[in-house]
Amino acid sequence: MEERVKKIEEEVKAFLISSKEDLENFRLRFISKKGVVTSLFDDLKLASVDEKRKLGKVLNELKQLAEGKFKLLQETVENSNSIASDQIDLSLPVVANKTGNLHPLNLTRYRIIEIFERLGFNVSDGPEVEDDWHNFTALNFAENHPAREMQDTFFVEKNPDILLRTHTSNVQVRLMKNQKPPIRSIMPGRVYRNEAISARAHCFFHQVEGLYVDKNVGFSDLKQTLYHFAKEMFGKETKIRLRPSFFPFTEPSAEIDISCLICHGKGCNVCKYSGWVEIAGSGMVHPEVLKNGGIDPEEFTGFAFGMGIERITMLRYSINDLRLFSENDLRFLRQFKSVQ
Ligand code: DAH
Repeated sequence: MEERVKKIEEEVKAFLISSKEDLENFRLRFISKKGVVTSLFDDLKLASVDEKRKLGKVLNELKQLAEGKFKLLQETVENSNSIASDQIDLSLPVVANKTGNLHPLNLTRYRIIEIFERLGFNVSDGPEVEDDWHNFTALNFAENHPAREMQDTFFVEKNPDILLRTHTSNVQVRLMKNQKPPIRSIMPGRVYRNEAISARAHCFFHQVEGLYVDKNVGFSDLKQTLYHFAKEMFGKETKIRLRPSFFPFTEPSAEIDISCLICHGKGCNVCKYSGWVEIAGSGMVHPEVLKNGGIDPEEFTGFAFGMGIERITMLRYSINDLRLFSENDLRFLRQFKSVQ
C-alpha cells in the first residue's frame, strides 16, 4: 500500500493543469469522494493498527498535497483568460486607432483655398441667414425679376425679408461695404435652395465665391485667373472655354467650362457627349453692384465668379450622386485621405 501511495503522490505532482477542464479532471481523480485518495482511506480501514498509524500520516499528507495544488491552480486558472501568457507576443506592433477622414468636400475646399491664396486672395466669410438686400437687391436682382424665382428661396418664418442665402454672392456685397479696394477675396460657404433632393440636386450645397476689385481689372484677368485655377485643380492639360451667359450682378457674364476629365474632349456621358463640363459662373462686376457696395464704378472695376464645391469634388473623384456627401455613409467617407 505504501508503494501505491508513493505512485499517486508522483502522479499528483506531475499532473499538468492549464485549463478549467484539466482542473476538473484533477478534482475528479484525486479529491472527489470517488477519487483515488478517498479509496486509499477506505483501504486503510482494513489495515492493522500499526500500519494505520504509519500510513494514516502519509495518506493525510497526500490529501493535503492534492488539495493544496487544487486550490492554488484553481485561482490561477480562473483569473487568466483562455490565452496563456506565453502565447502573447509583446513585440508585435500595436493596431493603430482609426483617426477618421477629412470629408471630400473639405478636401476640395482646402485645395481651392490653397490655389487662390497663392494668387494673393484672402478668405472671407458671411452669414447663411441673410436679408433680401444682400442676397438679391444689392446684386441687381429687380424686385419682380424671374431670376429670384430661379433660386427657389427658403424664407425664414414667413418673413419675405429674411432668408437662407441662395448663393455665396451675398458676401461680395458685405465685403465691398466693409473694405476699400483693392479687394481680392474668396468666400466659401453653404447655400440653400428649395429643391427636391436627387442625385443631381440638393436643398443645401456649397459654393466658393470670388471677387477681385481694383483699378484696371479687365476680363482678361478673369480669364487668366480661372484658367490657372483649372490647371492647378484638374491638371496641366486642362483647357477652359467661356460661354456668354447672364447674371444680374455681372456684365458681361460668362459660364466657365473645362475640358472633360473623363474623355478628354472625345465625348462621354459625364460631359453629355459635348467634351466640356461647366464649373463656374463669372463676369465683370455690374456697375450698379459696385455702387451698392459703396465703390465708384468710374474709378474701379472688378471680376467675380462662383462655383459649386460639390460639382468640383464630383469631377475630381468621379462621384456620380450628390446625396453621398450628406448621408454619412462610412464606407464612402473612408475612401478619402485620413486626418494626419
Ligand atoms: N451666384 C451664382 C449662382 O449661384 C454664381 C455666380 C455667377 C457667382 C457669376 C458670381 C458670378 O460671382 O460672377 O449660380
